[in-house]
Amino acid sequence: MSGAIDLRSDTKTRPGPAMREFMLAAEVGDDESGEDPSVNRLQEDAARLFGKETALYFPTGTMSNYVALRAHANAGEEIFVHARAYILLYGMAGAAALCGLQTRCFDTPDGTLDPHELEEFVQVDEEADDAVTRAVVIEDTFNALGGLVYPVAGIRDLERFCARHGMILHLDGARVFNAALASGVPVAEIAAPCHSVSVCLSKGLGAPMGSLLLGDEAFIARARRYRTQFGGAMRQVGIMAAGGIYALEHNVDRLADDHRRARRLAEVITKAPGLSVLVERTETNMVLADADASGLSAYEICARLEQRGVLADPNPYGIRFVTHLDVDDDAIEAAAAVIVETMTAAAHTD
Ligand SMILES: Cc1ncc(COP(=O)(O)O)c(C=O)c1O
Repeated sequence: MSGAIDLRSDTKTRPGPAMREFMLAAEVGDDESGEDPSVNRLQEDAARLFGKETALYFPTGTMSNYVALRAHANAGEEIFVHARAYILLYGMAGAAALCGLQTRCFDTPDGTLDPHELEEFVQVDEEADDAVTRAVVIEDTFNALGGLVYPVAGIRDLERFCARHGMILHLDGARVFNAALASGVPVAEIAAPCHSVSVCLSKGLGAPMGSLLLGDEAFIARARRYRTQFGGAMRQVGIMAAGGIYALEHNVDRLADDHRRARRLAEVITKAPGLSVLVERTETNMVLADADASGLSAYEICARLEQRGVLADPNPYGIRFVTHLDVDDDAIEAAAAVIVETMTAAAHTD
């Protein structure tokens, strides 16, 4: 719906005029053979920022996560992952279908994984008949739980756990810049305990596409080969990578505005009849509203909001509202008012 306030996802951001101009001027070359100066610069900038040896550019976070798993683990092995992790819920079972991995899932209310709980399921004997546990995958911020931050002390606990068992720790850091801003911990410190990190440029950072996979030279050399096998080796893609360079230079600190706006939205709509929001769990740019008390499904509420020009994301657990680059203070105030009006009207008529 044109002119609508789109709070469905931070993937909806569109590159603005300054980013487009920067992209237009990008130097390009054949990235498949490492000859694209803009891609190389983006990879170097990111590696420096994250304190990792090197980085590799991917078209999507989905591909960079699955290539990371493929490069870390062999078919028939197992990974530990949260039951509502993005790599499990979305991507059409890519860990199983593309990497041949068994996923052992753990459910926790805050998206963290407790090493004590994982301990009894570890199987690292390469001679045994059981699947070898190769890696732990974590997500920061945690999408399905409303953008929660993974406390860095917990990531360090998992680092020690993985080191003890000779296992790998991979971070799906699609929104790790949001986590860094919300926690005041630099991305390099969040990344330090992890062998590999996948970071999205196309979410709140506003680039039209692209993700980076970061890690040591040997790992990224393997990942580069699997990127080719997965169909992700690209050509003169520096024109897109330039959007990523621009995003890293201009759009990181402004994520704080998204967080402030999400908090504001949460505070207002928690007063709407039938909606309940855990305001203190609105840590970054996502607001999760439970609509159970309204007697309407999240899908029905979102359909009504859409008629009034506000787009939100319904799911079986409730409604998700995401703030981003294309939603300013006025839009948040307007959206909040529409949500309250819609719920008030529903309370009187349904
Ligand atoms: C936590 C998380 N990981 C990975 C991805 C996949 O990124 P992409 O859409 O670039 O494939 C997403 C996308 O929303 C995400 O939220």
